[in-house]
Order: sequence, then structure tokens, then C-alpha cells
Amino acid sequence: MNNYSDGEAFGRVNLMGEHLDYNQGCVIPLQINKSVNVYLKKDTTIEGIKIKSENFDQEIFTSVSNKKMNDWTDFIKGSLYLFGKKYNLNIKQLCIEVKSNLPIGIGVSSSAAVTVSTLKALCSLYNKEIKNSELVELAHSVEQDFVEVAGGVMDQFASIYGSQNQALFLDTKSNNYDLIKLSEDYIFFIIDSGKQRILTDGSLNQKRQYCKKISSKLNIENLCILDELDDHHKKILTNEELDIAKHVVYENQRSKLGKIALVENDLKKFGSLMTQSHNSLRDLYKVSTSELDLLVELCNTFGSLGSKLTGAGFGGAIVTLIKKELVEDLKMFIIENYPNAKFL
Ligand code: GLA
Repeated sequence: MNNYSDGEAFGRVNLMGEHLDYNQGCVIPLQINKSVNVYLKKDTTIEGIKIKSENFDQEIFTSVSNKKMNDWTDFIKGSLYLFGKKYNLNIKQLCIEVKSNLPIGIGVSSSAAVTVSTLKALCSLYNKEIKNSELVELAHSVEQDFVEVAGGVMDQFASIYGSQNQALFLDTKSNNYDLIKLSEDYIFFIIDSGKQRILTDGSLNQKRQYCKKISSKLNIENLCILDELDDHHKKILTNEELDIAKHVVYENQRSKLGKIALVENDLKKFGSLMTQSHNSLRDLYKVSTSELDLLVELCNTFGSLGSKLTGAGFGGAIVTLIKKELVEDLKMFIIENYPNAKFL
């Protein structure tokens, strides 16, 4: 688009390490080839901010302030507000257009992509050079402090440092990361259950609060400090708390084993860890749905090496690890058994 400053940011699928980034654990996201583009232009014919989105078929007039509206524009408003604050700018008379082929609300990080692309476009419009680490921090702050969704840093990190043919292993305690090359014969294939989830509904915040409470009961900084749960921990926690703690502690182990499996190209092992992760999200962390469970089961029955829900859960999509040459047959099998499925 002529005369516009633009920013692009890609979504991600998370291969391993679910609900660990706000527990300072290890995660393995992979960028996907679907993105959000945000275009910005000065427009002196308006006083405030005009936001247009093809996807929502909406045009919204607003101004930059610290107030959220509890709708999809909050990630843009939060970006404008915190960017303005960081660089001491009075942001106004701005026309914003959003274009995206990244599905919303299915667990492939559309919120972080909107935020990161808006911040990139703002950097370009206002000629600001920002380090990647600062961009991650600013984007995360939009989500956590402005929109008040309490996820960790995984999505913003994956959008900024990630790659589409290398999995990103990220230790969210130190933010140290490695990129791991993936086999070309296999694919991490994403299947949408058709049931959207909305993260601003507080379910993620609740889980985070729960983890905090458990950590303080155990008198530790965070659950990922533990390598296992012993009798002492088991005595202190209720059964429900123990389940949550078990998921976090053993999911972190799975991420570390998953990294080794990917480096060694042992995809059978990685697939089996994916399915273990799903079962733990279903039975212990309790964020799966019957639709996600069915899709996982169908894929594994068909011949995937493993499958799991991706992102926060509560609906959305699954990711399955399968030989590339089997994907078309898998699609047919899924549609026969789950007609509402959509493929990414
Ligand atoms: C959401 C959050 C992430 C992460 C995942 C669960 O996508 O935005 O930070 O917590 O859920 O792994």
C-alpha cells in the first residue's frame, strides 16, 4: 500500500511446553507462514485514530489512551499507548489498516502478531530503531499490562526471533534460545477444531494465578524450579493443585527431552512426547475440549507420530506430526470423521 508504513508479524504453533512461559519453563514454538500486516499513515483530516480491518469489516474511531475497550482493537490501542509512552510521543491523526491471513482465536498467536506488527509499523513511521529484545518486552507489556491477559513471553518471542523451518527452543527464565533445523520429510500440520476460544475471558489468568498460589504454598519462586514432585510436595498440595503442578513440572521435562529428540532427528520420540503433553493438558491441567481430544485421537489412529492441542487450549487447534506424503490422506480421513475441521 502506497504512502503507508507497514509492519508484518507471523503467527506460531507451539510444539511443546504448554502453559510454561508464565512459569519460567522451556517452550518449543515454530513460526507459521501466516501473518498480520499493519499499515499506518498520517491523516490530517481526522483528529484521533481510525482503525480499519478487512477481517472484522469494521472502521473504528478512537484516540490514544490507557483505557481498553475489551475488543480486538485493544492490542492496537495498547501498542499505540505504550509506544507513545516509551518514546514520549503524542500519537494522533493516524489511519491504521489491518490485513491478516492468520486465523483469530485458535491458538496460533494472532494477538501477539497484531501487537508486534503494530509496533513494527510504528517504529517505521516514527523512525525508531528498537532492539529485538526491547520489542519483545514492549509487545509483552501490551498484552500483560494493557490488555491484562497474563500469558508469558513465548508468542512475542516466537514472532520476533522465530523461524518457519527451525523450531525455537526458548528457556523463558533466561530468554536464552536455540533454533533447531527440522526434517523436510515431516510436517507439523495444524487442524482447527472450529471452536474458537477468547483469551480475554480470564481462563488463562486463572491458571496463572493458580500456579502462583501453588508456588507460594511450596515456598518456591516458580514451579519450573522443580525437577520432580516428591512426597513432601504431595503432602502440602490438594489433589487439584497437585495435578496442576504435575503438568508444569513434567511438561518442562518433556520440553527439554523434546529439544534433544529434535536435535537428534528422533521424530518418533518427539511425537510420543507431543501426545504425552496433550494427555497431561487434558487430564491434569484441564484445558482441552472433547473436540481437541477427538482430533488428536483421529490423527494418532491414522498414523501421525504424535499430536497435541496448541496454545492455551479451551478450544482452537491441534498440531500433529506426520510424514508429508500422508497429509492429503489424513485430511480426507479427518473430514470423514470430523466434518467441521479446517486445515491451515
Ligand atoms: C497463550 C499465551 C502464551 C502461552 C500459551 C500456553 O497462547 O499467550 O503466552 O502461555 O497460551 O502455552
